Amino acid sequence: MKYTFADYQKMADYIRERTSFVPLVGAVLGSGLGDLVNQVKVEAIIPYKDVPGLPVSTNKAHKGQFIFGTLNDVPCLFMQGRLHYYEGYTSEEVTSPIRLMKLLGIKYLLLTNAAGGCGANFHPGDLMIITDHITSFMPSPLYGNNLDEFGPRFPDMSDVYNADLTNKMIMRGKELGLPIKQGTYLQFAGPQYESKAEVQMAIKLGASACGMSTAIEALVANHMGLKTVGFSLITNLCTGLSDNKLSDDEVVAMGKKAAKDMTALFVETINILKNDNDR
Ligand code: HPA
Repeated sequence: MKYTFADYQKMADYIRERTSFVPLVGAVLGSGLGDLVNQVKVEAIIPYKDVPGLPVSTNKAHKGQFIFGTLNDVPCLFMQGRLHYYEGYTSEEVTSPIRLMKLLGIKYLLLTNAAGGCGANFHPGDLMIITDHITSFMPSPLYGNNLDEFGPRFPDMSDVYNADLTNKMIMRGKELGLPIKQGTYLQFAGPQYESKAEVQMAIKLGASACGMSTAIEALVANHMGLKTVGFSLITNLCTGLSDNKLSDDEVVAMGKKAAKDMTALFVETINILKNDNDR
């Protein structure tokens, strides 16, 4: 256990001294959504490295800053770049910005990522709305003392990805003609891609996509009672399901190619959250 509730309050105080903007939606921008911020009316930008106690992203492709601003008049707090376990941080550290965003006022969390597809009929370029996840291969971010201010010691995990909002995303995405799939996301620690046998295991466990992020973030959000939704861009088929050798280049290239579809689903999701009257 590294952080106390008071540590998170200190981080929030630091940000509050710099902006009074209160976001409704927190959003983690995965590969492919970097340019979305061009559509945002920006109010404030705060790099992770400036926030006392917050870990710093080491991934070159990820920027590492909070962007406060409105998208379609919805007050949002964007994480441009996320922290990953494979960078050497604990699960607790990786998910600390999610805790901070909760203290800054968010009610909803929108998670996005790039993932390998292993579901039947999945294709690179598909957008998978996440309906559930498997975090069993990751150390729990809740390990250690429970921070009762955030949530219970033994939180229920039966509805991590809000079913009502998720169904609306699936319906709306299909209406817009986007290549929508749905399924369970399995988080591995990375940074290596899966072996062929690991992919076969993932399929047997019921996963439709494998990646190296997101599920522990959703777990922590659920611990705090945030309404969470998420989607993956399927950048490639998982190891052994095509003849390709996997590389980051392929993932980044598909992120660029599918940016338009991802952005469309993202903006539509923001509208769905804005119109949620169960708040
Ligand atoms: N596996 C894990 N993470 C990924 C993949 C993959 O195939 N593609 C993009 N991120």
